[in-house]
Amino acid sequence: MKRKGTHKPTIEDAIEISGIEILHPGGYELTRRTAELCELRAGLNVLDVSSGRGTQAIFYALTFGVNVTGLDISEEMIKTATKRAGENGISDKVKFVLGDSQKLPFADNTIDVVINECAVGIHDDKGY
Ligand SMILES: C[S@@+](CC[C@H](N)C(=O)[O-])C[C@H]1O[C@@H](n2cnc3c(N)ncnc32)[C@H](O)[C@@H]1O
Repeated sequence: MKRKGTHKPTIEDAIEISGIEILHPGGYELTRRTAELCELRAGLNVLDVSSGRGTQAIFYALTFGVNVTGLDISEEMIKTATKRAGENGISDKVKFVLGDSQKLPFADNTIDVVINECAVGIHDDKGY
């Protein structure tokens, strides 16, 4: 079903309000498997597209030593994720930026690995 315009609260608002930590099926086990398949290791620059509450970005940094930029379209998600990175003491390794996955604001050759967990089907009604 196509969305017609923006209706409040959005599903993203509902997720944020719920405080649920992992927003995709498979939980940490799947996140770890994804990281292993991507061969994450210290020093790599990872882009976590649709980073939500920052759970995966923080996990990747703490577990694999990577630098992570999380990008999400929701201002609330960005605020929460940034706060959580600070609480985990890794604000130097993990940052979050507001943006649209369909217009990524990064220069060429600045990212080693791009990960996107569980954002398929959450697009607007621009016709794609
Ligand atoms: C189901 S959550 C998944 C969050 C996280 N990746 C996880 O697995 O826990 C989907 C996220 O995609 C974000 N999102 C939806 N459309 C987006 C877009 N066009 N660009 C960037 N983020 C988007 C939402 O704000 C939400 O945080």
